[in-house]
Amino acid sequence: MILFLTKTGGIKLGAYKLISFDKIPSTQDYAHDLIAQRKATDKTVVTALAQSAGRGRYKRTWVSHHGNLYASFIYKIAERDPRLSYAVAVAIAETLISFGIRPQIKWPNDVLVDGKKISGVLIEYAQNFVIVGIGINIKTCPTVKEYQTTKMKNYTDVTPEEVLSVLMKKLDKWRGANFYSVRERWMDLAICINKMIRYQGKDAELIGINEDGALVLRFDTRYVLTYGDEISI
Ligand code: BTN
Repeated sequence: MILFLTKTGGIKLGAYKLISFDKIPSTQDYAHDLIAQRKATDKTVVTALAQSAGRGRYKRTWVSHHGNLYASFIYKIAERDPRLSYAVAVAIAETLISFGIRPQIKWPNDVLVDGKKISGVLIEYAQNFVIVGIGINIKTCPTVKEYQTTKMKNYTDVTPEEVLSVLMKKLDKWRGANFYSVRERWMDLAICINKMIRYQGKDAELIGINEDGALVLRFDTRYVLTYGDEISI
């Protein structure tokens, strides 16, 4: 792999500008700071080998010991697009597949292996940028009260650098892909399609995602579209 130093610090890795740390509070917060200071450019990626204040969805802590991948990808956008989250999930799943692992996606973008969470995604917006924060358990997995966890090391031996390098290519591929192919691939990899799940305390059948990126659920004879929240399986 060939790396180039940029004038503003960081390293050029393909189309990405890579800013990497041994340990910082949160790559996501660092990405927000770059944007606030007008130092962010499209395709900047902030990575750390460990985080002291990693953040997950719903204000949860993302326990971030050494040995895993913690990365926040900054992309310039014209407008928010709920479909991005599916492209990201497919990119992560395909990254794992390239290392011989068989993942499944839990709506919208948790990635599970053998029913246990191996990766999480936090998508946030700031000014005309989206920050896609991705954590992938490689060497360690924390014990979490809400769900079971696993790590790549249970299946294969890889380094965070190797995973990052594949992930960048997969993100480029799936972000640029037509949403019909993203949706088709997401549906192939998704857990619980046409199965009963719990949503907001009620039983519902998970039908799939529609062309706008909404989750389609069926409650008896009523179909409901949703863009947020969590499902339980
Ligand atoms: C989730 O709750 O499933 C989302 C977890 C997202 C964690 C990543 S690790 C890199 C980036 N920095 C953070 O502080 N959070 C995200």
